[in-house]
Amino acid sequence: MILPNLKEAKQRTNREVIIKTNEYHVEEELKKIGLHKKYFLKTYGCQMNEHDSENIKAILEEMSFTETNIMEDADFILLNTCAIRENAHNKVFGMVGRMKHLRETKPDLITGICGCMAQEETIVEEIMKKYKWLDIVFGTHNIHRLPQILKEKIKKQKQEIEVFSIEGDIVENIPVKRDSKYKAWINIMYGCDKFCTYCIVPYTRGKQRSRPPEFILNEVTELVKEGYQEVTLLGQNVNAYGKDLHIEYNMANLLEDVAKTGIARIRFVTSHPWDFTEEMIEIIKKYDNIMPYIHLPLQSGSNRILKLMGRRYTKESYLELYKKLKEALPYSSITTDIIVGFPGEKEEDFEETLEVVKACQYDSAFTFIFSARVGTPAAQMEDTISLKEKEKRLYQLNELVNEYAKKANDKYLGKIVPVLIEGVSEKNSTMMMGYTDTMKLVNVKNADDFIGKIVNVKITDVKTWSLDGELVVD
Ligand code: SAH
Ligand code: SF4
Ligand code: F3S
Repeated sequence: MILPNLKEAKQRTNREVIIKTNEYHVEEELKKIGLHKKYFLKTYGCQMNEHDSENIKAILEEMSFTETNIMEDADFILLNTCAIRENAHNKVFGMVGRMKHLRETKPDLITGICGCMAQEETIVEEIMKKYKWLDIVFGTHNIHRLPQILKEKIKKQKQEIEVFSIEGDIVENIPVKRDSKYKAWINIMYGCDKFCTYCIVPYTRGKQRSRPPEFILNEVTELVKEGYQEVTLLGQNVNAYGKDLHIEYNMANLLEDVAKTGIARIRFVTSHPWDFTEEMIEIIKKYDNIMPYIHLPLQSGSNRILKLMGRRYTKESYLELYKKLKEALPYSSITTDIIVGFPGEKEEDFEETLEVVKACQYDSAFTFIFSARVGTPAAQMEDTISLKEKEKRLYQLNELVNEYAKKANDKYLGKIVPVLIEGVSEKNSTMMMGYTDTMKLVNVKNADDFIGKIVNVKITDVKTWSLDGELVVD
């Protein structure tokens, strides 16, 4: 049993990160353990977790498990969890309750938890006390060890917990089963060293480790050969890419090299405003296959709160960057993340956030009420704002955000835009769906034969969160 430790997770060591190309392996005896067995994997959280789940699926399938979308049919139920806010915790433990119930009728059922919550000391303590029947727990640093963890569980027939607090090396040979044949997630870096005072990620994902460019470029080149149209370069703070590599190579260089592979669409998330360079803006402008879509988290519009958050930029420098981006890329869409009710946020601080939203008129924004995370500095700060007040601020902010989201979408009415058709629309089964270059969701008429293709679509109707359109036949 290896348990997580918050103090260790906080440390940043100078230990050299090793790139391992044969660390992941499945012993011969394990290759058949999933034969005639099904797994159900539920994913919470960000794109990084989505992508980790694509790795987990491939690992399980190398052990002969097959996937099911029906939890009740599964022989192995695994939750890949997120720790970013308290409500994620409640959702996961709700599911754990259902798993316990299923286990009572199915004694051979294997149950497990992985992901960011598994990295939390308090969560693992809770599991060991109250959920002794949960079979396996593993973290974000040892996904490649899943076969061996399952083997231990089966051999010993007792709860198997293996969570490393300190990030390991970069394991390059983990298989992947991608959810899409057209769009792919690509990790360009792991971890985060920013330590924003409210955020748990630097503890659950470890120190920043960039993947060497050649591995990323090989992956993109392979995807191009397989017919992929879009890649999203993933990291918690992609603009800081390369800072930990001992070569002169940064995010602008990477974007340019990925653009040169010829892949049709390149996206990247998330950009911390602090590390956004002019060089990056130039490259985004220069290459048509780097999409004009930027997610630029603001968090707060008050300099006092930004300082308490440890964000390292001011309202003024944020607005200046925003202006530069819009001048260089007038057609681009820009979205953001905002937290309301950070400890000590006064009405006037919140007003400043609203001011920035008015100045930027975002295409959309993810808005959150501050959630105290155990072990982070903000959890120690005095929080005197009532929940009612926080909810009021969130509501007020959302009203404003929605107004601008609709306004941004209105500009699309009657325009012809490129859309990568992905599949049948969830809202209307007679339509297909896809995203524009600027990341707008579009439901499209008459595009049934164009799945996986980028087509021109004329926008015929505009809503706050989506557009409707029809295929333009040349
Ligand atoms: N790396 C990204 C953010 C990842 S988390 C960045 O720095 O931009 C996604 C969003 O969740 C954050 O941008 C923030 O708005 C929100 N968030 C993170 N921690 C939070 C907390 N403790 N309470 C409320 N929202 C939080
Ligand atoms: Fe969290 Fe800040 Fe890192 Fe984003 S940059 S993951 S908000 S610590
Ligand atoms: Fe959640 Fe972990 Fe992502 S905390 S947001 S799943 S990095």
